Amino acid sequence: MLSRRKFSAIFGLSVLSTNFVKCASSSSTSKIPGNLVISTWDNQRANQLALHELNNNPSYLLNAVEYAIKSVEADAEDRSVGYGGRPDREGEVTLDACIMDKDGNAGSVTYLKGIKHPISVARRIMEKTPHVMLSGAGAQQFALAEGFEIENLLSEESLAEYKEWLVEKEYKPKANIERHDTIGLLVKNKNGDLSGGCSTSGMAYKMAGRVGDSPILGAGLFVDNEIGCATATGVGELVLKTCATFLAVELMRAGLSPQKACEAAIERIIAKCKTDDIQVGLIAMNKEGQIGAYSIQPGFVYAITEETASRTKEVNSYFK
Ligand code: GLY
Repeated sequence: MLSRRKFSAIFGLSVLSTNFVKCASSSSTSKIPGNLVISTWDNQRANQLALHELNNNPSYLLNAVEYAIKSVEADAEDRSVGYGGRPDREGEVTLDACIMDKDGNAGSVTYLKGIKHPISVARRIMEKTPHVMLSGAGAQQFALAEGFEIENLLSEESLAEYKEWLVEKEYKPKANIERHDTIGLLVKNKNGDLSGGCSTSGMAYKMAGRVGDSPILGAGLFVDNEIGCATATGVGELVLKTCATFLAVELMRAGLSPQKACEAAIERIIAKCKTDDIQVGLIAMNKEGQIGAYSIQPGFVYAITEETASRTKEVNSYFK
């Protein structure tokens, strides 16, 4: 893995002050007026890439989202996003992603095989087709026509782990697996314009054909530039059944702060679904740069990067 200094040198970034805030704390109700990036899990490096893009071109919000998420998709050590992601039960890595901009444009790709950067494919779908979502073989065909290349996405580590899994073939989604699962990333520029993206290889050892929340607008991600935006991580089935990010944005529209909106949306999931030992985390931000985060179980963290500092914070959870 790249050291922070090497990463900064490669990407031409100044080394922001970064830290990991260990104590669980409520999210800030203070307003962050400048460029701001938040993302699920400890994705400070991705955040810093996004912030760098925003600082250079504040109006190119989607570049910030895409480039940051691509860096995680390319990282073999992140075993739940892009290259190196854990496969499905058949040993296939299948990827889901979506992207949404300040004008309500959106692109989404599901069940994509062999293409390392689903977030870029999602953006191309948004920008170059009359559709919002492409899936499976058709999505791959479109990606190839756009110049993307087929690659083997199953890393040696994920293959070795898959072979071990085949011995018992037990399917049990684990909460907070290695403190990541999905990158959901939200950006705001100094004008208060918002955009976001979400990318995952989905739940490890899922059934072939399974699609989670991450590519579904209103589930894994929702952006409404009049109000705010939200993104989700965790067991996608619960997020799908409750339209949790749409709900969080609508709760902000009704006047709740991003923090209260995340709490109410998580409480809705708990009220409607069986949540024993299941994790879902939500993060949200409004146009004023207030942020919020909440989860069902302890252990969820998120990264906040503003112009002067970057930090990873533990999130308060419903169950302690
Ligand atoms: N949240 C990722 C998934 O369920 O696929």
